[in-house]
Amino acid sequence: MKKHNFSAGPCILPQEVLKQASEAVINFNDLDLSLIEISHRSADFVEVMEKARDLVLELLDLENKGYTALFLQGGASLEFLMCPYNLLKKDGKAAYLDTGTWSSKSIKEAKLLGEIDVIASSKDKNYNYIPKNYHIPNNIDYFHCTSNNTIYGTQMKSFPKTDSLLVCDMSSDIFSRVLDFSQFDLIYAGAQKNMGPAGTTLVVIKNEILGKTGRIIPSMLDYQIHIDKDSMYNTPAVFPVYVSMLTLQWLKDLGGVSAMEKKNNAKAELLYGEIDNNPLFAGAAAKEDRSYMNVTFLITDESKKEEFDTLCKDAGINGIKGHRSVGGYRASIYNAMPIESVQVLVDIMQNL
Ligand SMILES: Cc1ncc(COP(=O)(O)O)c(C=O)c1O
Repeated sequence: MKKHNFSAGPCILPQEVLKQASEAVINFNDLDLSLIEISHRSADFVEVMEKARDLVLELLDLENKGYTALFLQGGASLEFLMCPYNLLKKDGKAAYLDTGTWSSKSIKEAKLLGEIDVIASSKDKNYNYIPKNYHIPNNIDYFHCTSNNTIYGTQMKSFPKTDSLLVCDMSSDIFSRVLDFSQFDLIYAGAQKNMGPAGTTLVVIKNEILGKTGRIIPSMLDYQIHIDKDSMYNTPAVFPVYVSMLTLQWLKDLGGVSAMEKKNNAKAELLYGEIDNNPLFAGAAAKEDRSYMNVTFLITDESKKEEFDTLCKDAGINGIKGHRSVGGYRASIYNAMPIESVQVLVDIMQNL
């Protein structure tokens, strides 16, 4: 039975990527060896790593602009710590925007290393909006925000201008829309949404910002060491990096981030249109801050819930149960999700 995978992450990946990746597990590059049993220092894998890193910069339009792309481990959660380790001066201060569970976790880690100013939060309304009109102080080392709040279904539509460094957790919307990525000094994202399997984290860093904190940084947490070692300081997560490379190549072949943005807009508008027009459903997030990756919504007539759930299940819809902190439903419509699958969900909502 065809499945429509709306899971929030790990989540849908392109079918052709999964097919190529599974073939490489058996016989990679016609070597008669598996991708996961050859040395990460072999020419065949080094080429994969280099291609993946080059594709990241090309797709984000950051080539030749002084940035490096790294594939690290420890998830976006380890970046919550690596970021202050590398950017927060010994007696320094950083400002954070609190837009949900993941921002809060990043704040908790950063506080281990120094003074953190939470300049605005949407906690008062269970994070269903993005704070606006906040003031970013001048005397800070960096400002940290989360572009897309996977759990609550909110997304920053623009980013503040600041004289300090701009750091962004883009775990759940990287490569989904066109932005001027050069406004950011550090971007990080766990792979398991728009890129590949869990197990590697993408970090894109402006080289000139490093080495200014006066801290002694443990090797595995030191971005400069990972840059100097071409993202191979220790054994990289070879399979996640390979699948990420294939997904990035798939994205490039489709026309890159701008082509993907058009598809993503069409999917989100189709689904939000139904949520807004159908009295049986209500969006969970403030309209102007709605995420185009994670669509959170509630059913207004609880007596219809069981029927809706059954119809979804019978149609092969997977993973739309909302996160426990929001309730209701969450349809994640990442890059690899075809509009036809969104239409299946919309048809069910219409006929309920
Ligand atoms: C926005 C955001 N940041 C961080 C994380 C944590 O990522 P990881 O599980 O890779 O540590 C997630 C996970 O879903 C996320 O959605």
